[in-house]
Amino acid sequence: SLAVRNVQDLVSSSAAEELTPDMIQRYIQPDIDAHAVLAEHSEEVPVIDLGKLMNAETVEDETAKLKLACEEWGFFQVLNHGVPDEVIVGIKQNIHKFFELPLDVKNGYAQRPGDLQGYGQAFVFSDDQKLDWADMFGLFTQPTQARDMSYWPSEPRTFRNSIEEYTSELMKLSHSIVTFIAKTLDFDPELMADKNVGQFLRMNYYPPCMSTPGKVLGFSPHSDASFITILLEVNSVQGLQIRRRGAWIPVKPHGDALLVNVGDFLEIMTNGKYKSIEHRVTINAHKERLSISAFHVPKYDGIVSPVLGNTEEKVLYKTTIVEEYARLYLSSKRDGKRTLDHAMLS
Ligand code: SIN
Ligand code: FE2
Repeated sequence: SLAVRNVQDLVSSSAAEELTPDMIQRYIQPDIDAHAVLAEHSEEVPVIDLGKLMNAETVEDETAKLKLACEEWGFFQVLNHGVPDEVIVGIKQNIHKFFELPLDVKNGYAQRPGDLQGYGQAFVFSDDQKLDWADMFGLFTQPTQARDMSYWPSEPRTFRNSIEEYTSELMKLSHSIVTFIAKTLDFDPELMADKNVGQFLRMNYYPPCMSTPGKVLGFSPHSDASFITILLEVNSVQGLQIRRRGAWIPVKPHGDALLVNVGDFLEIMTNGKYKSIEHRVTINAHKERLSISAFHVPKYDGIVSPVLGNTEEKVLYKTTIVEEYARLYLSSKRDGKRTLDHAMLS
């Protein structure tokens, strides 16, 4: 069976004794340090002020910054994103409380075989694969007919409402961001209309790993099979790293900022001008980390094809059927190999 141990439970039930290398052998990744981590990175992920994008006097400069962020980084932080404080505080509190619930209560929402939704571990395909040091809770939140309410937790009491509020705020926000991204490319915003209709929410819990923090990963290197992804750090423990110029760069968003990244479908649509950057999550020795990724995805039965800037531009990506791409992405653990390579014309 592919059922794997709940990581939070593994850590807490062995708190008294040491976790032996034997117990965590399936999580130990042999080549984590294969690429240097830039400890003294001076660069910071670009900060985009949505307020400045909405202001006629500053929109031009800020759009140029957004374009540069998409071209040079594939990641940016958004300030003045318009999601009300109380909505953010609400979802953070609920997620904290949810992961603190006893295992058997959380397992009431356990992923059913073959499903992406629910509580469990992501990307488990084989008995011999390396496992990520994390538990997660996934939900389809948009379009509303994609929701399976049997997975929506009734504990904590305000959780459902909080998910509803947070995810609908993010739909509004992603619509603005995508419209401004269209502007940076001189694309008709209408072209984006069916690219940002679905939303999958992934709440991540990364327990500490006292014995071998540098040898496990909360999330193995991957790029996102999304159009854009919006990430909220639920607590302030650093863990996310992005691949930049051959090194891994730790990312720590400003307190109030949301982190946005270019996903695979946006890379395809821009014919590679905006890149979907590889990223991973490292584990702290003493502190748990919580985050929420919201994957904004194209219409499931649609296609994404490269839109060219001019007639001279060479087409680099295939017209991609969203459903086929999603199936390929989810069919095996990528282990650093990009699903995107399949979408490229060689
Ligand atoms: C993800 O890549 O979706 C998770 C990122 C994070 O937890 O920071
Ligand atoms: Fe990701």
